[in-house]
Parts: sequence; structure tokens; C-alpha cells
Amino acid sequence: MDTKETLPTGGAPRLICAECVAAMRRLPAASVDLIIADPPYGYLNGTPADVAFDEDGFLAEVRRVLKPGGFIALFGRGTPFYRWNVRLASLGFTFKEEVVWDKRRTSSPYLPLARTHETCTLHSLGGGTVRRVRVPYVKKNVADPEKVARDVYRLMSALGTNGREWQAVRDYLAGRTVEQTAIRSQFNITGCRKLKNPPPVDAVRRIQEGVPASDVAAVFERRGGRIHPTQKPVELMRLLVRLTTDPDALVLDPFAGSGSAALACMDTGRRYMGYELNPEFHAAATRRIKEHQPGLFG
Ligand SMILES: C[S@@+](CC[C@H](N)C(=O)[O-])C[C@H]1O[C@@H](n2cnc3c(N)ncnc32)[C@H](O)[C@@H]1O
Repeated sequence: MDTKETLPTGGAPRLICAECVAAMRRLPAASVDLIIADPPYGYLNGTPADVAFDEDGFLAEVRRVLKPGGFIALFGRGTPFYRWNVRLASLGFTFKEEVVWDKRRTSSPYLPLARTHETCTLHSLGGGTVRRVRVPYVKKNVADPEKVARDVYRLMSALGTNGREWQAVRDYLAGRTVEQTAIRSQFNITGCRKLKNPPPVDAVRRIQEGVPASDVAAVFERRGGRIHPTQKPVELMRLLVRLTTDPDALVLDPFAGSGSAALACMDTGRRYMGYELNPEFHAAATRRIKEHQPGLFG
């Protein structure tokens, strides 16, 4: 009989070289907060990263090991991906959101339609809520420098022409009360007036606090330095982790590949447990994890 796996209680990520379905069967039921599932997509047959797996066995384990309110973030493409999404619904999961990774480059220049994105769907088990995540203003708009230029221009012209608005920004930055104006919104049926900051104060606040994350995540990653053919950016993984869990949550990464999700968990204070079948990928990911924060390993 299989012995039960103990779960990481903190500290270093745990990445095991194992077949994930068999390994998940050793996990306690209702013990995991988030599963980041980036399985072989099933269309790169014969390559080391794309080997068939037991889909039904995997999805049954996903259902069993997730806590109520837990999430699965599922990557994929084409028919297998749509099949997995439908099966999750029939297992009682609720589709919550879809995050599109805009790669800012194409990974398939020879196809008739160059692919520049990957899709990840977020499904929750029994009432999980997607968290509000703010991202730095410049990061959010990195793909749209014209917008950044327009915003900066607007801010400069507002500040340049209006001494009161300058003062309001100075008050805001110094932590003093900012004089607000009452405005009546045309959509506000109660007729109540809303208090609004002067626009330059809101602009500065957005730059300082960040803006709500978009469901299209533009994250460019150079090809050089990658250790896995389908490696996802750590920044994308951080977004998924923050959208679906709170600090100290337990994240399971059954198809770990390069270990990007492990690095995201280290960065955001989540506990991590992953499986990788291929010993070479496992060894490379283990090295990457150790190099990311060597202190954690003593
Ligand atoms: C799409 S890649 C994951 C990439 C990963 N998210 C990253 O950012 O690097 C899928 C990985 O799952 C591994 N794999 C395939 N079948 C597996 C199984 N049954 N159990 C564990 N790992 C498996 C493959 O070796 C491959 O490294």
C-alpha cells in the first residue's frame, strides 16, 4: 500500500521526480489551495516534454486533492484543452476567468497564423473568488508606449497649468488630506454626488499603487537562458498565484517542467510542491530553484 505524502509546511519548494497521477494519489484529500496544471498539450508528439498522461486519473485527483474554494489554473491548446475544461465542469468546477499570455513574440513563425499567445483558464471548486491584483502601471502598459506617453503628457499639462492641482499632488505625496470635488455621475441613479480626487492625484496614485491586472498579460521573455522548451515566465506564474491564493497557500504543480511556478511561489510566499517526470528536466529545475534563493537551502 502507498504511504501518504506529507505536505510542505513552509521553507523550500519541494520538487519530486515522479509521475504526477501516481504521486497525487498519495496526497491527502482536500489539502491543496491551487493546482497550476501545464500538461503536455498533446500536439508535439514524440518530443521529450509532450508525453501522453492519464487524463481521467489526473482530473479525478485534481478534484480530490483540492480544498473547497480551491482553484485549478489550466494551460492548454486545441481539442485536448477544450476536453479538459468540459470535464472540469462535469466534475463540479466553476469556470471563473481566462488569462491570456501575450508573448510579445511568436513561438511558431512557420505556421500560417503565427501564434503569439497561450491560454490559461481558472476554475474553482465551490465558491472560490478571484483576488484583485494590482500590477505596476508601467508593467501593465509596457506594450503600449503611446498610452504611457499620452498619460505623462496629460499629467504634465495638468500640473503645468494649474497651481491647485500641483498643490493637491504635493499634499497627496506628503500624506496630507487632498481637497476633493463632488461630481454627479450621469450613470448614478441615486443622484448622490461622488467625491473625486483631482485627476493628476489619481494618476500619481495609479502609478504609485499600480493598476488592476488585465486578463491579457503581456510578458516578454527572451528565448536565451531558458532550460525547458515550453517554459512559462515566472511573472505570469506570479500573477496566477496571486489571483487565486493568499500568502502561505499550498500550490501543487504536477507538470513542473522548468519550475517557473516554484520560483513564483518563493517570490510570493506560497508553499510549493511539484512533480516532474523527466529526470533531466527535474535536475535542471532543481538547480534553477536552488539558484533562485540559495539561502532557503542552507
Ligand atoms: C508543458 S510542460 C510544463 C512547463 C512548465 N509549466 C514550465 O513553466 O516550465 C509539461 C511538463 O510535464 C512533464 N510531464 C509530462 N507528463 C508527466 C506526468 N505524467 N507526470 C509528471 N510530469 C509530466 C513533461 O516532462 C514536461 O516537462
